[in-house]
Parts: sequence; C-alpha cells; structure tokens
Amino acid sequence: MNRVYLDYNATTPVEPAVLDAMLPYLSAEFGNASSIHSPGQRARAAVETARDQVAVLIGARPQEIVFTSGGTESDNHAIFGVAQPLLAVPSSFPSPALHVITSTIEHEAVLNTCQALEKSGVAVTYLPVDREGVVDPESVRRALRPETALITIMHANNELGTVQPLEEIGRIAAEADVYFHTDAVQSAVISFTPPKASAHFTFAAEPACSSFSTAAITSAASVPARKTSPELSASARPQSWPAFLLAKTRSA
Ligand SMILES: Cc1ncc(COP(=O)(O)O)c(C=O)c1O
Repeated sequence: MNRVYLDYNATTPVEPAVLDAMLPYLSAEFGNASSIHSPGQRARAAVETARDQVAVLIGARPQEIVFTSGGTESDNHAIFGVAQPLLAVPSSFPSPALHVITSTIEHEAVLNTCQALEKSGVAVTYLPVDREGVVDPESVRRALRPETALITIMHANNELGTVQPLEEIGRIAAEADVYFHTDAVQSAVISFTPPKASAHFTFAAEPACSSFSTAAITSAASVPARKTSPELSASARPQSWPAFLLAKTRSA
C-alpha cells in the first residue's frame, strides 16, 4: 500500500539541493568550525556563508544571526532574553508586574515559555483570534500597559496556516516602544517579507529542509539575549529538527 504523508507543514523529506549542500560537511569536510587548522577554517567559512545567506533572506545583518538548535530554543531565547534581565532588576518594573502580550494560538514553544514567565510573576495577556484565526491588531493596542515589555505574536500558524497582520502589530509595538517577537518557524515555505517595524523576529526553515539540526537567533547589542537556555520550555517536537530564529532590534 502506498503511504501518503500529508503533514508537510510539520516536516518534509530533505530537499535534494539542501542535501547536496550539506553532504560534504557530513563526510569529507568534517572540520570543527572552532578549530584553527584549515579543515576547521573551511567549515567556519561554510558557516559564515550560511549566516550571510540567512541574513539576506530576512534583511538582517550577518552579525545579528546566531545559530541555535531549533525553533523552541530560539523562541525561548527571544522571550526569556527580553523578560529575564528586566525581572533581575526589580526597579525596572516595580509594580504592577512586568507584562507580556501573546495570542492563544501560539506554538507550545511560545505558550510554555509564557507560562514559565507567569510562574516568575510576569503578567501575560493571551489574545483570542477571530473566526478566521487572526489576531485583531486593535486588540493588541488595547492590551498594552505601561509595564508591557514584549509582544510575541506568531507569523504563520502551524495548525491553521493563518497568517497574522505583522506589519500592523509591529507598527503598534514600535509606537509603544515595546519589543516585538515573531515566531515565524513555519514561514520559510510561504512568501514572506519581514515586518519593517519589528523588534525581534523568529524565522525557521524547518519544513523546507528537515532533518538537519540548525537554528539561529540574532543577538544585536540592544537585545538582552541570553547565551544559554538551560530551562527550555519543551515543545512536543524533537530538538533535532532544524529551525532558526532571527531577531532584529527595534533600531535595526
Ligand atoms: C510555529 C512553530 N513554532 C515553534 C516550533 C518549534 O520548533 P522546533 O521543533 O524546531 O523546536 C514549531 C515546530 O514545528 C512551530 O511550528
């Protein structure tokens, strides 16, 4: 019996072009990119080429791209990276509590991270979507508080395929001078223009090139991203799936 696999939004076979590009580094060109010898330096050059290409894809600067293990790690970095330094300095948001805005249809990688923040005393607003599965930008504006530190609203939804109005939400975030993070893990396969008024931007190539473990997050000077995420809020997915996150600062 022929098997028909219809969940390409979750993962796909490896693109032949991706396989061709990766194969040398899984066999002959196996140098450690941190080593100073020439095989290591060739591997390093390949990583830097990939960084340049990713940056061009979303209009970021190469130095803003940091590769991570996947979408979950990247989402954790972006959300904890904004909230935790502020929590560490209580005078930043004395009272009422630090506030984050998200939507009810985010991936677990974002929802679980927001729930983890709630346990630390952060107030989180979970905005509903309309019958088309879309967040009303005006509801984002209404949810803003003086102590709102971050808006995290996804781009393409992994179950519904609905695409959120990021330009408008990004503009609202910029006007309010609030960090804006977007989980765009599902967006590599659809025509995508990163919002100009974005703060943090998450992006992933997961469905396009499955089974290679690659991810990234930008770490521009004004984004307080953390170096490691020991308390990752798990998604249901294995960590080995490829995805990458890019974050842009509001000044970028
Ligand atoms: C929208 C969205 N965000 C985050 C993730 C988590 O990515 P990963 O499985 O690479 O950790 C996924 C996984 O499919 C996703 O679809």
